[in-house]
Amino acid sequence: MFSKKICCLIFFVVFIGFGSCAYNESLARNLIWPITVDAYNHAVEKCISTTLGKDYDFGIQSTVQCDSESSKDSCSGYVIAIHSIKSVVIVYRGSISDHEVQVEMNYTATHPLLPFAGKGKVNGWLLNGYNLLWNAGMKNAFLKLKNKYPTYNTLVTGHSLGAALASLTAATLSATNVVPKNRLSLYTFGQPRVGNKEFADNYLNFVPEAYRIVHHWDIVPHLPTLGLKGYTHHKNEVWYNNNMAKGDPYIICPDEESIHCSDSVLKPTWDDHGEYFQVRNYLGNHGCVPAGKP
Ligand SMILES: *[C@@H]1O[C@H](CO)[C@@H](O)[C@H](O)[C@H]1NC(C)=O
Ligand SMILES: *[C@@H]1O[C@H](CO)[C@@H](O)[C@H](O)[C@H]1NC(C)=O
Repeated sequence: MFSKKICCLIFFVVFIGFGSCAYNESLARNLIWPITVDAYNHAVEKCISTTLGKDYDFGIQSTVQCDSESSKDSCSGYVIAIHSIKSVVIVYRGSISDHEVQVEMNYTATHPLLPFAGKGKVNGWLLNGYNLLWNAGMKNAFLKLKNKYPTYNTLVTGHSLGAALASLTAATLSATNVVPKNRLSLYTFGQPRVGNKEFADNYLNFVPEAYRIVHHWDIVPHLPTLGLKGYTHHKNEVWYNNNMAKGDPYIICPDEESIHCSDSVLKPTWDDHGEYFQVRNYLGNHGCVPAGKP
């Protein structure tokens, strides 16, 4: 509550016109989810105009092998400036194989959390994946676009594994003073738990405008299991206890882990993980998807 007030205060006093701190559902539904689905296409640059028309300046798409254990595992993301929302946007793809999910879960079960640039500890597999990908070109492309459009804000997003990478990216950009926290926002979809309670407790100090969107019974936000090695979600969960049709209600959850939100779900499913706002993530494999209509 407190940090949120501060955030809004800063916005109104210093950055009038840049936006607001509230969750923008229309933005999430019509623009951020479509460009996140697009991350599943291996050649985003060739089809992103389907989603954005001419409203963008493309930076880079990077893909790396995200651990040394298996060459089948890849992490991927892209960087783009979107003019209509005056933002440089960092977008991460989720896992594309069950094998990768297995490796990730095995690693999580058998390795301790690692210290994070900000505060607290985070999953080492994810941190390694983020560092590899960021240094494989995304960092340079981001800084280039940020310098080219100095008045633009920064938006970080991703689905699934990509949501976790997005969460780490946004907090790192803020903790290392690369982006001021009042010019930064995080919107993620189906994010797993990323770090411990100290990481979670400090998250909004780094990224006040953070929204972790959860579709109904999506299983991934239940992983790693609450309590395993201290893994705890950061705020703000935005829970849709429904199919996410246009006009469906959602709750901005009051706690990091809230029994009023997705923690109340007893039988989470993979099916709800792949679909947000009634658009499935695999559509991105076949070509960039059209943006929604507000
Ligand atoms: C949400 O974002 C859209 C797209 O940028 C913008 O047009 C709209 O004004 C925003 N809504 C609010 C309430 O800020
Ligand atoms: C994960 O761990 C299980 C149990 O130890 C093992 O059977 C499986 O092969 C591992 N999977 C991968 C992909 O490493």
